[in-house]
Amino acid sequence: MNTAPRRHWLPFLNKEVPADCATPTETAAFELKTGCESLRLRMPELELRSELGEGWRISGGTISGGETGLLYGVYAYLMAAAAGKPIAEAESRPRYALRMINCWDNMDGSVERGYSGRSLWFRDGRFSYDPVRLRQVARMLASVGLNVLCINNVNVHEPAQGLIDEFLPDTARLAALLRPFGVRLMLSVDFSQPMRHGGLPTADPLNKEVQRWWRDTADRVYAAIPDFAGLLVKADSEHRPGPFTYGRNHAEGANLLARALKPHGGVLVWRAFVYNCQQDWRDTKTDRPMAAYETYHPLDGQFDGNVILQVKNGPFDFQVREPISPTLLAMPRTNLAMELQLAQEYTGQQTDIYAMNPMWKELMEELREGGDPQLCAMAAVSNLGDESCVTGHPFAAVNLFGFGRFAWDPAAEPERVIADWVRLTYGFEGETQAALTALLMNSRAVYEKYTAPLGLNWMVTPNSHYGPNPSGYEYQSWGTYHRATREAVGIDRTDSGTGYLSQYPAALREKYGSADTCPDSLLLFFHRRRYGWVMPDGRTLIQRIYDDHFEGYAEAEKMAETLAALPLPEPDRSEALRKMALQLHNAREWRDVINSFFARLSGCADAQGRDLCADFDD
Ligand code: GCU
Repeated sequence: MNTAPRRHWLPFLNKEVPADCATPTETAAFELKTGCESLRLRMPELELRSELGEGWRISGGTISGGETGLLYGVYAYLMAAAAGKPIAEAESRPRYALRMINCWDNMDGSVERGYSGRSLWFRDGRFSYDPVRLRQVARMLASVGLNVLCINNVNVHEPAQGLIDEFLPDTARLAALLRPFGVRLMLSVDFSQPMRHGGLPTADPLNKEVQRWWRDTADRVYAAIPDFAGLLVKADSEHRPGPFTYGRNHAEGANLLARALKPHGGVLVWRAFVYNCQQDWRDTKTDRPMAAYETYHPLDGQFDGNVILQVKNGPFDFQVREPISPTLLAMPRTNLAMELQLAQEYTGQQTDIYAMNPMWKELMEELREGGDPQLCAMAAVSNLGDESCVTGHPFAAVNLFGFGRFAWDPAAEPERVIADWVRLTYGFEGETQAALTALLMNSRAVYEKYTAPLGLNWMVTPNSHYGPNPSGYEYQSWGTYHRATREAVGIDRTDSGTGYLSQYPAALREKYGSADTCPDSLLLFFHRRRYGWVMPDGRTLIQRIYDDHFEGYAEAEKMAETLAALPLPEPDRSEALRKMALQLHNAREWRDVINSFFARLSGCADAQGRDLCADFDD
């Protein structure tokens, strides 16, 4: 483990925040002094104005804000100056009250779907960390306005149930380390915890003993951590326990914990990731994307005021391309959070470059088209780990930075966010800044083309989720099918098919319902089409599949050339080049495996006569 903390996008903050900075206001004062010295800036006054809360104002040489607002104002002031766009007058406040990072860290030190090394705070069944390094991570989070850190996996493996029990003093010490940065601690808990850890014979949400157990537990946690943010729960999902065991619904389950947290001002974040993971692949009636809406829509209005329903951005599971989750558009009387995934589980695993802000912008546009529901929080699965650059790939840091900016202001332009990250991290200006910004801006489109264009999902290698395997999830129980035959591919999710489309409001139903108005990128998600079907651009479907894969690989090759020409500093340059070679290998595999799969199945040749690796007998 390399413990030397890198300063990432904050190279001008060249002194560690001292351990005796105990509050965000003290941190703000320290950061302002350090930053102004290193950037040679005139130092503004700081003015604490609690009514501004997390918001800040910069005006007439003064930065004002509430306790954490002041800290955010200082970072905004310094980062703007370092990015070459100093602020004289401005004010800002966050769009969402909770801006959360969900870490899937296990106490043995492993990280579920982690691609940046091991946990930054757990090892061998206990807490183990370098406080200097953790303060640096907390500083990174605070600098982009992130204010909640959930430190353990939603799949709560032992001994993590003890984080609110025998490990509570250690949990409290970690919370204290985050506090000066305005970052509040959250924990994932297991719904059956009263049984597995509390010795009760049941975890039934309507049982009085169970209710008392959660209340006592919450009282104990808040006695140790007064600013504890709340609890996160994955229930009745992928074999996790939940209220269904007792014939109770998810509002009853969520409200149980929410009522225990309420006297302390805590929130209960309840994940809406519920589906049948034991489906028979022969069953074409059950359509996994429909499951969350079917579970939660009837419960709208039944969740307590301090419950937040956390819904993944799409109805499946963080695929490269999915439509917006209809559940987000169907719960007007429920507090909602959208869950994104910075960990690149299906999007290149921090080997392939994949910058996410352009995708998040599209999600917001879709939300608006679907009726503009007012979310109250944003959450993202963490991409942090103990590797020296903390995000696995030095460029994957753009997603942590970008998520903070996005959760503060979802209208922030992706290009501006990414260009700022490039300038702050590497000091690039002019053409160099533009070249790296463009490479990152296009990275998702390139990845989508060489892996899963046109709304094709789940052709990925099972379990690891890296690399192609067109039939890997086709005959499994996870509800993950493309149903390619020699004639056609895709799933009809319109009224003539599974009926999934009917879960959307009218505007999106219309747009996706007709293959003529459905964007190409979602065609095979919503429609089943023959290979000879002519796309709006005049090419057949099969030709588009081939062309997109060839283009995706060719564009990845161009990315590699651009990257090699950039004056990146070490060690980022060597790391990025090494990973780019792996990305090219991956892109070539995807291109050839998918093209070969469809060519062999359909018997269709490539109109341009390229090698499809299909071994046609004739
Ligand atoms: C995916 C992922 C799992 C994770 C799950 C979740 O299925 O592969 O590792 O536990 O999502 O979000 O809960």
